[in-house]
Amino acid sequence: MKIKVTSPGRVNLIGEHTDYNGGYVLPCALDLTIKLFIEKKSNESYVKTDLGYSMSFDVNTTLKKSNNHWENYVLGVINELKQIKFKLSNFSCSIISTLPSGAGISSSSALVCGLIKGLSKLNEIKLENSEIINLSRNVEHKYIGLLGGIMDQFTILNAKKNTAILLDCEKLDSKFIKLEFKEYKLLLLDTNVKHNLANTEYNQRVSECKESMQIINKLCKKNYTNLSQVNRLDLSLSKEKLEGTLYKRASYVFNENQRVINSVEFLKNNKLKEFGQLMYESHFGLKNDYEVSCKELDFLVEYSMNYDQILGSRMMGGGFGGCTLSLIKDSLIDKFIKEIKQEYFSKFKRKLNPIIANLDQGIQMSLI
Ligand code: GLA
Repeated sequence: MKIKVTSPGRVNLIGEHTDYNGGYVLPCALDLTIKLFIEKKSNESYVKTDLGYSMSFDVNTTLKKSNNHWENYVLGVINELKQIKFKLSNFSCSIISTLPSGAGISSSSALVCGLIKGLSKLNEIKLENSEIINLSRNVEHKYIGLLGGIMDQFTILNAKKNTAILLDCEKLDSKFIKLEFKEYKLLLLDTNVKHNLANTEYNQRVSECKESMQIINKLCKKNYTNLSQVNRLDLSLSKEKLEGTLYKRASYVFNENQRVINSVEFLKNNKLKEFGQLMYESHFGLKNDYEVSCKELDFLVEYSMNYDQILGSRMMGGGFGGCTLSLIKDSLIDKFIKEIKQEYFSKFKRKLNPIIANLDQGIQMSLI
């Protein structure tokens, strides 16, 4: 039995850094994927990627963290599965990817969810999607040290073609929103920047949000369990106590949740221009209040504002690098890409990697 799993990347239309705050997000799956081909082996396990990396181990020995970053995703998945089933089968897994890594389009969650799906099938472990999400989050928290939310995993497991998911990350309630961008397309511009403090800064935002919520609870005598539950009145009553930075974080989260809800209404009513405006607002919130952008991302977004045919643009994902997402008129794409690549290179001496985002279905698994 050979198992094939096709696991997509994700784009997030709007709702950034709201998932771990129990808020709203509006993500979709990409047509760029990681394919995993998995089968049983008797003595040893072997994982190889099309980039020439490989690793081997025996699943039933103690597996310690590796110095090679990507290997920890694999080791983390195996260790987490071993908590459910004590003895696993050795396997071979070959990985073929069209999904760039480090671009903020969730290649790591695509790999982790794909591996969990394939290895649980191979070992006859029955897992609900919610359990896969939890396992995958544990891998990120424990083996990678990133205290991420569940947006990426939920999207990878549940997405439908040309559809966004309005997800309430606290209740895990979701609604599918059919998308029609007509003569507009989603364009990703990968900065090729990966800030090496990204994980630390990300985790710091997670704790700043927790701290803000605790201060608001104490001051307003409330029992909020996440920052997204805080209402406008309590937020403004707490402004002074939150002092500068924490107030900026908390008000960003409040505003971004509102923007997601408003975006859904605009998208349902084909008001693309209004939706695009919210993308810009989201970007400036992330830049000024949440402070997770960087000069390369800001440059790309600000440059987009020169064009009426670009309705909106913003940094996407965790930030500190990765890519921007823009809603751009079809007829402008070629010219714009050519121009911005040159401008970007002359300013930052880096290559810009453009990707047209076609939206596709979630994870698929088959026996071949
Ligand atoms: C990363 C995390 C997600 C989410 C985004 C920001 O992609 O993995 O859980 O927090 O950042 O919206």
